[in-house]
Amino acid sequence: SKGTYEFYMLKEIDEQPGVMRHISQDYLDDNNSTKVDPKIAAAVAESDRIYILAAGTSYRAGLVGKHLFEKYADIPVEVGLASEFGYHFPKLSKKPFFIFLTQSGETADSRVVLKQVNERHLPSLTMTNVEGSTLSREATYTMLLKAGPEIAVASTKAYTAQIAVQAVLAKAVGEKKNIQIAKDFDLKHQLALAAVGMQQLVDGKEKIDELAKKYLANTRNAFYIGRGIDYAVALEGALKLKEVSYIQTEGFAAAELKHGTIALIEKGTPVIALINDPATADLTRGNIREVESRGANVMVFAAKEFAQVGDDVVLPEIDYYLSPLLTIVPAQLLAYYASKNKGLDVDKPRNLAKSVTVE
Ligand code: F6R
Repeated sequence: SKGTYEFYMLKEIDEQPGVMRHISQDYLDDNNSTKVDPKIAAAVAESDRIYILAAGTSYRAGLVGKHLFEKYADIPVEVGLASEFGYHFPKLSKKPFFIFLTQSGETADSRVVLKQVNERHLPSLTMTNVEGSTLSREATYTMLLKAGPEIAVASTKAYTAQIAVQAVLAKAVGEKKNIQIAKDFDLKHQLALAAVGMQQLVDGKEKIDELAKKYLANTRNAFYIGRGIDYAVALEGALKLKEVSYIQTEGFAAAELKHGTIALIEKGTPVIALINDPATADLTRGNIREVESRGANVMVFAAKEFAQVGDDVVLPEIDYYLSPLLTIVPAQLLAYYASKNKGLDVDKPRNLAKSVTVE
């Protein structure tokens, strides 16, 4: 039940620290090793390429997963929209492994791909929140997200759970391959930092409500920008905001905006900039100046070392590769308040269904 919450979306945003602890308990032991079915780790370790297929928010979680698998498992990753992949199968590598990310485990577009994967007798894994769901039954292996039931149509805790469980698998595969940085990856500590940081961000939600009131009350469009892993989060932040508030929002690679779309920036256009990557923080600040000089109102969500005074939302400490676990929280809250402040039904945006079982 919603308990004292007006909407499930806020309840589920609030539950994320607990989800991180739950995943840590169930998938990691006290010696900083992973507890993953050895058959799964071995099957992925043998592959020469991972194909991650998904839709919507789960696809955007896969874009973060690509960074994690390439870093810690040292395997190239292709991330695809299931709805495109199913009808335009690319030329596959020699030993592909397929991962289906799906909260519900019922998404028809993903099932179309899995059917073809099975026809080719290729190995697959479904990461899902629902035990016994269709995609779970049809894949070779299953890993559960352990996020608890997600009721709000807009996905929140399933997204962060998908990132955390992909990190677990990336580390498990890296351990199997004897990769030193995977063995050294202090995931137990990092997920503890994620839980504490998420709680801190949720506790600061009034500030996000203020930002929503100040910047988003009367706007028809908005942009999220970021580079590297922040670009993946920009795409999810934009989806969250548009689906629940109906503000047309696009996520852009920070530098790509100036190659065309900057023409849409006018006085008062809200831009949310994400900054976690030390390699590109200064460049993204440059992109912020570009849009500000054209009249944009910029909100910044930045890691402590890159935050400036003023309205910047400071993201608590965490490893760069897991920064999406924290960066997304103010983005989820911003979407929530933008919707609620307009008097909309946050949990049931128009035209949307929680699980999409048609192609
Ligand atoms: C967005 C959202 C949808 C789903 C998408 C995939 O907030 O909830 O975009 O992410 O329909 O659903 P699953 O993960 O159940 O396959």
